[in-house]
Amino acid sequence: MKSPIPSLLQGIVLSNLLALSASAQNESSTCDEDCQSFLEMGLSFERSSYAHPGLDAFYTIPEEFHPSMKPGTLLRVEEHTDLTNYTVPGGLTMSRIMYTSESLNGTIVPVSAFILWPYTPFNYNEKTSPQHNSTSSSSPPKFPLVAWAHGTSGVFPPCAPSNYRSLQYNFMTTYPLALDGFAVVATDYAGLGVTTLPNGTQSHAWLASPAGANDVAYAIDAARKAFPAYLDADGPFVAMGHSQGGGVAWGVAERQMVHPQKGYRGAIAISPATRVVDEIERAREVVGAAAHAEDPAVAVPVWASTALGLQVKVIAAVTAVFPEYNDTGMSEGAYARWHDALKPAGGCLVTDTLAFTLLEGEQVRANWTGNELVGEWQERVSSGRKEFRGPLLVIVGEEDALPLDMLEEDVERTCKVRGNEGQALEMMSYAGMEHFPVIQASRTKWMGWIKERVSAPSNSNSVRRGQDGVCGEKSVVQGFNIEYTAHGITPNWLVSWASAIEAWKYAL
Ligand SMILES: *[C@@H]1O[C@H](CO)[C@@H](O)[C@H](O)[C@H]1NC(C)=O
Ligand SMILES: *[C@@H]1O[C@H](CO)[C@@H](O)[C@H](O)[C@H]1NC(C)=O
Ligand SMILES: *[C@@H]1O[C@H](CO)[C@@H](O)[C@H](O)[C@H]1NC(C)=O
Ligand SMILES: *[C@@H]1O[C@H](CO)[C@@H](O)[C@H](O)[C@H]1NC(C)=O
Ligand SMILES: *[C@@H]1O[C@H](CO)[C@@H](O)[C@H](O)[C@H]1NC(C)=O
Ligand SMILES: *[C@@H]1O[C@H](CO)[C@@H](O)[C@H](O)[C@H]1NC(C)=O
Ligand SMILES: *[C@@H]1O[C@H](CO)[C@@H](O)[C@H](O)[C@H]1NC(C)=O
Repeated sequence: MKSPIPSLLQGIVLSNLLALSASAQNESSTCDEDCQSFLEMGLSFERSSYAHPGLDAFYTIPEEFHPSMKPGTLLRVEEHTDLTNYTVPGGLTMSRIMYTSESLNGTIVPVSAFILWPYTPFNYNEKTSPQHNSTSSSSPPKFPLVAWAHGTSGVFPPCAPSNYRSLQYNFMTTYPLALDGFAVVATDYAGLGVTTLPNGTQSHAWLASPAGANDVAYAIDAARKAFPAYLDADGPFVAMGHSQGGGVAWGVAERQMVHPQKGYRGAIAISPATRVVDEIERAREVVGAAAHAEDPAVAVPVWASTALGLQVKVIAAVTAVFPEYNDTGMSEGAYARWHDALKPAGGCLVTDTLAFTLLEGEQVRANWTGNELVGEWQERVSSGRKEFRGPLLVIVGEEDALPLDMLEEDVERTCKVRGNEGQALEMMSYAGMEHFPVIQASRTKWMGWIKERVSAPSNSNSVRRGQDGVCGEKSVVQGFNIEYTAHGITPNWLVSWASAIEAWKYAL
């Protein structure tokens, strides 16, 4: 389906694609005047989106931190975050915590997270324990929990969602979950916000789902330690994520097999990133075929141009895990732009996208995906095709930024893994929906799914269904009026903030 609403990013993805096919023009160009102006445009937008200019003192690593600490150790608690600079809806409150997690290679790292608190909890105990009455003021309220795993925000320290005025996913996921009574515990992921490395260094292992799953799981442990009065140590929780975070949420379901956590009620992976190197290889074939097609109308699917647009970031992500790889796959021009322009500026997703839009010539070396370390990286970091603990709900848009048939294959291969036959895994595809719109399109589904699972008594059939369910059930949801709704690869929410003196802006 063609999108009737052209979006900036869609244009950017396409121009990335054009740049890929253009001939090399200035391989040595680091960041010329046009690039500089795009870079500044991106940085100024990003800076205006930060709740604190730069990262505030909260993100500095406390002296007591030591790499010999156990993961899940609480390092810092800010009980009541000052919401002046955030767009957090009235009634909700926020905390920030810092805790230890474990990176892919077992190194203990400090990580930050935010917690959004509802005005009143979703009453998950109603049916099972009528004596528990959260509206009575005698005992503090207990909150059911959703552990949120965010999608790509960038890879450098300033790109921490907890430092964005609208917490990155705003009314798409985190606000509605909190407004419906869930404590939302949202990790920034290691390397975003807090960093142990000198500035300008990427320590965030982008797309490393098992590392992200550690960050999510230890955020839950740490939040329970920080707020025992409001979060039961065995209270119910669901892990949920989108895109990069969709892969992470799936990783949380896999992690439960090895490190089970009390209160786990399932995971929701929306548009999950799984095998991104395979996707890039597929995308190259698809783009090559379209270029040679006799019919000029043969279109390149959005997922293919998206995958190709991710290459430089994927290469940097391989290096974040295997430093010896040293960004070998980047072209000279891309290497210079990444290292000498984006990295020193601490540019996040917006700036990254803008900075690479203008880079002419090849951004990557031919066959870079054939490198042994790249293959090893994908094996180490991807979720899917492993043992997991259900229930797991996988949601995807039919026009998503990832190829539907590859995700179907991931689901099928996951269900063929010995031990998974009895685990509930359901995949739902949403007709006509793209990468971000699918979050909204599926909202009644995921919200209901979470409420049902956290409400079920922990020993009931409806929870046991998780370990005794159907693996690989698939369905397609046909939406209403889908050709008339807003389409685009990006979100179409833009939550904007104004200072107190310009509060009149909120009237619109
Ligand atoms: C290539 O980029 C360099 C560095 O930005 C610049 O000095 C040079 O003029 C550019 N050359 C061409 C042909 O654009
Ligand atoms: C809010 O942001 C302003 C600058 O934009 C900064 O001076 C101020 O300290 C911030 N307030 C809080 C509470 O973080
Ligand atoms: C583990 O990975 C981190 C990057 O995440 C790196 O800084 C560190 O040197 C690695 N440690 C070992 C023992 O490989
Ligand atoms: C809960 O508490 C409120 C206020 O104290 C009371 O009116 C209500 O009857 C209680 N409900 C139950 C189920 O105990
Ligand atoms: C990494 O690659 C860059 C660019 O090719 C090169 O200049 C640098 O020497 C390499 N570093 C190491 C440690 O190999
Ligand atoms: C990194 O540190 C240098 C020197 O201390 C400073 O000039 C630069 O602004 C810093 N960059 C970021 C992104 O904080
Ligand atoms: C790329 O890989 C293909 C297939 O493995 C091979 O035929 C081709 O020679 C390779 N090209 C380069 C430049 O290494």
